[in-house]
Formats: sequence, C-alpha cells, structure tokens
Amino acid sequence: METQPEFSSVPVPRFAEDHPLYPVHGRQAWLGPDLARNPDAWTYALTAPQIEELCDAIRRVATMGIDVVDIRAKDFPLPSWRPILERVREDMFEGRGFALLRGFPVAELSPLQRCLGYFGIGSHFGHATSQNAKGHAVGHVCDIGVDARAVTGRGYQSNFRLAYHSDSSDVVALLCINKAETGGLSSLVSSATLYNEMLKCRPDLVRVLMGGVYRDRREEIPPNQGPWYVVPVFNPHDGRVFTTYVRSTVRKAQRFSEVPRISPQLEEAMDLLDAMANDPAYHLNMDFLPGDIQFVCNHFLLHSRTSFEDPPDRNLRRHLLRLHLACPDGPALPPVYENLRGFNKHGRPGGMLLSGVRLNAPLEPVDGGPGVFAQRRKQDFNASSDG
Ligand SMILES: [Fe+2]
Repeated sequence: METQPEFSSVPVPRFAEDHPLYPVHGRQAWLGPDLARNPDAWTYALTAPQIEELCDAIRRVATMGIDVVDIRAKDFPLPSWRPILERVREDMFEGRGFALLRGFPVAELSPLQRCLGYFGIGSHFGHATSQNAKGHAVGHVCDIGVDARAVTGRGYQSNFRLAYHSDSSDVVALLCINKAETGGLSSLVSSATLYNEMLKCRPDLVRVLMGGVYRDRREEIPPNQGPWYVVPVFNPHDGRVFTTYVRSTVRKAQRFSEVPRISPQLEEAMDLLDAMANDPAYHLNMDFLPGDIQFVCNHFLLHSRTSFEDPPDRNLRRHLLRLHLACPDGPALPPVYENLRGFNKHGRPGGMLLSGVRLNAPLEPVDGGPGVFAQRRKQDFNASSDG
C-alpha cells in the first residue's frame, strides 16, 4: 500500500501483473570481466596539447575572476577536446554508461586551479548541482571522520565500504587527487545486466523492485520536498530500464512511522540485487590513478567502493573531487524521478539546494551535512585528522 505524503509527490506507476517485461539489449548490458580485458576501450588519455589547452582555459577563468560555480562552457573553451567530450557523452547516455579520462594534471595545479579546471570540464556536459545540505557543487570524497551509519552520515565523507548504489544526478564524475594507502577500489556494475539476470531467475522480484520503495533524505530537505520520498528501483521507460537504488536510505526511512515497513519480498529482492552486484561475474573494479576522471551515468549503472585506510600524513589521504551534473541532453527520464530531487527547467534532476543556501565550491574537504558535525562524527576518529 502506497502512503500518500503531505508534500508534492509523483505517483508510482502501476504495472499489471501480466504486463510483459523484456530484457535490455545493447551496449548498456555488459559484464565486468569482458570490459576488464580491454581497458583501452573505455579509457581516454588526454594528449599534451589537450592538457595545455585545459591549462590555458584555467588561466583564462582565473584572470577573469570567475567564481568556480559560475563557470559555463562558453567561459571555458576546449575546442580540441570536442571529439573526446562527444565520445564520453555517447558512452554515458547511449553506450556502456561510463568512461575514464586519464591525465588531468593534478600535481601541477593548486586546489583552486584544480576546481576551476574540473568544473570547467564538467560545464561542457551539464550544470553542476548541489550535493549536500551546505550547497557544495564540488564535493570532496574524503574521510573526514563521518560515521556513515548515522542518520545524517554520508558515505562519501567516511572511509566505510559503500554498497552498490546510484546517485540522484544524471552524471556523477570523480577526479582522483590521491589514492588510499590501502583499499578504496571503485567498482561499477551495469544495472541493465542486473535487471536482465533477475528477470531470468526471479521475475517476481523484478516486479517488487518496480513498485514504490521509500527512501530517507537524511535531513537534507530542499523546499517543497519531504523528509522521505518514494521511487521504484527498476523503471522501464522509453525502451530502456532506469535504475535508482540506495539501500542505506531505504533502511534509514524506516524511522518514519508513516513509511510502510520493508516487506520480506522487498528485502529478498534487495538481497538478490546486492548479491548479483557483488558477484565478480558482473562488476568491474577500477583502481584510479591521480588525474583520472571517471564519468558515470547514474541511470544505467550502480557504483560502489571498498573501505580504505589513509596514511597518517593528511596531505596523502585518499581524496577525490566529485561533480553531480544535470545534463540538458541526457535521456528523457521517467516522470516519477521528479521525486528524487525535483526537476530543473530542462526536466533534469535538481540538486539538493536547501532554503537560504547558495551553491559553492569549497577548495578543501569540509563537512557538507545538515546541522552540526557532531551528529555524525565517528567516535574513534583521530581528533587531529578531522576536516
Ligand atoms: Fe555515490
């Protein structure tokens, strides 16, 4: 039974029990071991002239005094990048759902120059949206001592293992500044493949995941939205299957009495989805090098990360810069996706911009959650290591 919220919410579409379901064909449905055998097919190395052009564009916006979050593609010319940007866009929206750019010159750039350059590249794909309650358009994926189990704890600011999930933007990009001392491996899995495989063995559970699943906003609540929302995991739409899944927020939403309890069938379906994603027969592991940028379309992939340990020197800790992009030329979305973060004027996923908060780009890792940091601080975290 679907709970009708007091805030605006798009109804979950209902499919008849005999509504035919078909597997997804094409490049979106891949197996990790196949792609692992040929990394050159999804890795694009930047050339020296392209890196020089990037540095010119960084100098240009720096000289013009443009704030990081105000950079638009017209301010950041990258003419020789056109073919590579077009390939990455095609990979994300029409192909395997991701691509890796190699060679961003992190070691030669200051924190400000990195943010200007990274944001500038992102502007060629779409608009960067807020990733958290503090309005961060550039997120620092870094362990600042957050306990991801806390209601307002976000995994990207912890060193916890992250279970396979999707973010709510069209695209999530990660730029590697530093690798972890141990662990911190990034993984991707085709959600089209997971859907196809579940359809073969447990079509009943596919239908469970096409029903409403309730998720917690973790107190990051934009205007006109509620503390929780409802959206299916699998969303057949326009000849494809769009997938959105964050199991930790499904579990956290159980703190609301008006949210239906997780049924045994839903628990079983999520267990099967997790088990398949964790199976090496399906996912692809990636070990980032500094200067790698991973571009991922959230609608067709799930991503995860192993837990990690940082060295004592804070300057050497694992550190990635994240962008959440709303892409005007992204695939048309299922209407119920409006429940995730709302839609912008282009019908793309909005960000998490809270009332009175301005979009901003911190240059160093800082807490991005709502309220006070103490609500989510890990008890045993070294006091000298917090961000
Ligand atoms: Fe994520």
